[in-house]
Formats: sequence, structure tokens, C-alpha cells
Amino acid sequence: MTSCACGGRRRSSAPADSKRRWARRPGHKPNTAVAQAYYNKKEKVTRISTETGAGQWGSALSMACSFFGLQCKVYMVKVSYQQKPYRRIMMETWGAQVVPSPSPDTQAGKKILEEDPNSPGSLGIAISEAVEDAATREDTKYSLGSVLNHVLTHQTVIGLEAKKQLEKADDEADVVIGCAGGGSNFAGLSFPFAADKLSGKKKKLRIIAVEPSACPSLTKGKYVYDFGDTVGLTPLVKMHTLGHGFIPAPLHAGGLRYHGMAPLVCKLYADGVIEAAAVPQIATFQAALQFAKSEGIIPAPEAAHAIRVVIDEALACKKAGKRKTILFNLSGHGHFDLGAYEAFLAGKLQDFDYPAEKIAEALRGVPEVKA
Ligand SMILES: Cc1ncc(COP(=O)(O)O)c(C=O)c1O
Repeated sequence: MTSCACGGRRRSSAPADSKRRWARRPGHKPNTAVAQAYYNKKEKVTRISTETGAGQWGSALSMACSFFGLQCKVYMVKVSYQQKPYRRIMMETWGAQVVPSPSPDTQAGKKILEEDPNSPGSLGIAISEAVEDAATREDTKYSLGSVLNHVLTHQTVIGLEAKKQLEKADDEADVVIGCAGGGSNFAGLSFPFAADKLSGKKKKLRIIAVEPSACPSLTKGKYVYDFGDTVGLTPLVKMHTLGHGFIPAPLHAGGLRYHGMAPLVCKLYADGVIEAAAVPQIATFQAALQFAKSEGIIPAPEAAHAIRVVIDEALACKKAGKRKTILFNLSGHGHFDLGAYEAFLAGKLQDFDYPAEKIAEALRGVPEVKA
């Protein structure tokens, strides 16, 4: 059985004994965007800067800022800006200013454009720009949509609600799966379940973070101190990293193109509490199509990474003749990702090789920190 959590309202039409159970919400990012905008407003901040990869975080924060009358500037990773014009328009509708990153608006962006005028951008670069924006203006604070502890904490509403829903259905998760870019939706779903694993209440529970094989920070990264952004403006954080200078291939899952991972997720991975898997782009879209056809929901390419592993786990159960409850997070819909679906349907989508050399080079740039 698969259960799907999106945080928020349950689909009331699903019968209690339905094979699949759902909770719906337009995506996970508003869980933290609204909280962050609210606290900024309380602190009398008038303007917020941020980055966005897939555009979901930028949309959520733009919406939240409009609720509280705050200005919002979004540095949107250039490849996503080009792939998803409607995401930009959505943010602009809520009153945000959106620029493609790297942009000429910051020193960080200018430097990267000088080195590579065709840079597709990355979350790391966009973070550098948004941090610099906030650091050079009195009226602005920087807001991050993933990675940091407070963001992960806001997102745990997803796992807490999913637990209640499973309780009501008199069921328990055996496997919990989420895609992981910076780690927030994965942590949000899985941490309340990880608590049961750590306390010994549910020792056999498996928790799996899924990332793209072209940007495999957990499965191939080093567990060291590194910068959260490309230029090196943030404090150092201990995490699995591909090196802050690593620019991932222009995957369609823009929200998973990040060189690092949330430190709390990394600690659980290092301690063996959670597992990680890396999946390629084409197999991910095959899973997305299978899901769309059977469930009627077109998933975001990020969420489709989790779906790939859900299907693989379900097939393994079938083969072994075992029945397991697999819980996963449908972290967003793919209505603004139809360009990617079009490419897949036309056979034009490509897999990117594991970028071993680029990662090795980027890892050489990781600062040495003596314990
Ligand atoms: C739909 C969706 N899922 C997942 C992610 C990855 O972010 P995180 O790992 O913080 O959940 C993003 C990020 O933009 C996203 O848009």
C-alpha cells in the first residue's frame, strides 16, 4: 500500500480502507514561507530576499510576503527562469521582483557571469546573490526555503499530520520516502517517524531520501564543513557536500540541484538512521508518468524522484510476496513543469552521467576545517 502525504487537508472522498490514502496541499513550501514572513513582519523588516530553484519556494515566499505587505526579491536559478516562465509570472502576480540568477544585480552574480556568461545558475549561486542582497541593505533580511533547522522544523507538520492519518486508518508506515534537495520536505515528512525509530518504538522502519544521480550529495558527497552557497558568504555547515563550487547539470528537477544537504538530515544519514538513493532523470519521468496515469496527479519532477523509489520498493515487495505500507511525500504538482513532460514525451529528455570529475574538482575547493 502506498500512502501519500502533502501536508494539509485529507482527501475526504478516500474511503477509510482505500488502498491509497492522500493528504492534499499545493506544495510544502508555504509551511515555512508563511511562518518566516510573519516573524519578519513582527521584527519590522520591510523587504525579504531569497533564491528559488524550481520556483516553488519563490512562489510560496512571494505569496507569504504579499499576505504581510512585505517586498520580496527572488533570485531564480537561470535554467528554471527559462524553463518555467509561468512560475515567474506567479511570483510577479504576488508582487515579487524576480531576476534570473546569476544576475548583474550583485557582485556575486557579476563575477560568475564574467567567468561564464552562459552559466545555467544553481541554487548555490542564487543563495550567494540573495545573501549579498540582504547583507548590503538595511531594510532587507534573507530567507532560506530549505536546509536550516527552523525550516525543517516548520515542515514537520507534514509528518505529524501523516502520522495522525495513519493512526486513523489503523495503519503504520514500514517505509518512509521523500525526495531531498536541501532536505526540508524529506525531513518534514520523516523526522516525526525517525523519532520512533530512534526511541526503539519502530526499530525496523526504513526511511529513504532520494536525490538525482546527477547531483548526489548524500550518496556521493563528503561529510565535511562547507559553505551553503557558491561564493562562500554563508557560515560553514557540516553536511554531505559535492563542493560549494559544483554546478549541477540543468536537470528538470530544479529544486534538487543543490550541492549540499540539511545538516540534520546528514547527521541521521551518517548515523545510519536513514538511507539514501540516487535515481536518474529518465527513470524518474517514467515513474512520474506511471503515477500520473494511475493516480490522476501530475507530480513535480522533484517529487517524481521519490515516486521512482516508491515504485521500486513496491515492486520488490511484490516479488518477495510481502505487504508493506510505503509512505511518501508528494512535495508538489508538476503543472509548471509541462515543458519537462513535453521533452520526455518527445524522447528528448537525457540522463546526465555521474559527474565524477566535476565533483572531485569542486571538493578540492572545500575549506579545511580543523576539529
Ligand atoms: C516540489 C519540490 N519538491 C522538493 C523540493 C526540494 O526541496 P527540499 O529538499 O527542501 O524539500 C523542491 C524545491 O524547490 C520542490 O519544489
